[in-house]
Amino acid sequence: MAAQALAEIDRSLLAREAGPLPQRTHVLLSYDTARFPFAAVLGRDVFRVHRLDRLHEYVRQHRARHGRAPRLSAKDNLMVCDMMARQPEDAAFWRLYHGFMLRILAPLVGRGISYTSHPKLRIHLSGTSSVSSFHHDICVTKRPDQINFWAPFTDVDGTATIWLESDYGKGDFTPVPVRYGQVLIFDGGYLGHGSVDNVSGVTRVSLDMRFSYKKATTRAEGVSLMNRVIQVIDAKTADDEEIL
Ligand SMILES: [Fe+2]
Repeated sequence: MAAQALAEIDRSLLAREAGPLPQRTHVLLSYDTARFPFAAVLGRDVFRVHRLDRLHEYVRQHRARHGRAPRLSAKDNLMVCDMMARQPEDAAFWRLYHGFMLRILAPLVGRGISYTSHPKLRIHLSGTSSVSSFHHDICVTKRPDQINFWAPFTDVDGTATIWLESDYGKGDFTPVPVRYGQVLIFDGGYLGHGSVDNVSGVTRVSLDMRFSYKKATTRAEGVSLMNRVIQVIDAKTADDEEIL
């Protein structure tokens, strides 16, 4: 997605103009990977590898077999992403994804939700430059009612993961560690986020999409949705039911 660069906008003004803010900028939702084995399905059906976090090594080997230099680039990220694009709409991965929305996300929200039906899988191979400069989704989507769903299928930290600012308009981006089995839910319309050059030695395979209350159009509904998600996850964590 083309995004407006941070330097081009008044970052602190964005969120301020939008009115009341959610209780927190982001929250982590944990789920059971035995029930939703996204990584195993991707490894089996799409990439034909056992270790998604080692995809960069397989790509390097592929390049070597074709007499190409080992250095990876953005083209390699796209080439691997295209492998997912060849999957049919009713592929096992998408059935699992829709099952997750039906059985985990929608009950958590407690109301009908709209969500992206076939979002793009993102690949950030170790050894490649940033795949997304720092931005705010609202500048592109113009959808103040939406919040962000970001699920990695490899354990990511440091330069392999998403970077968020600590508060609206701060611009002090730091990496958010997210394990496979967790979804980062964050206020990406207004909270700056992006990625950096991946020098971690770990490839990130992730899926990101935005969701909202069905028929929502306003920022107030987006804030209400974010607060609802935070409250339900906090309550479950307090009950020692971290795994949904
Ligand atoms: Fe974004």
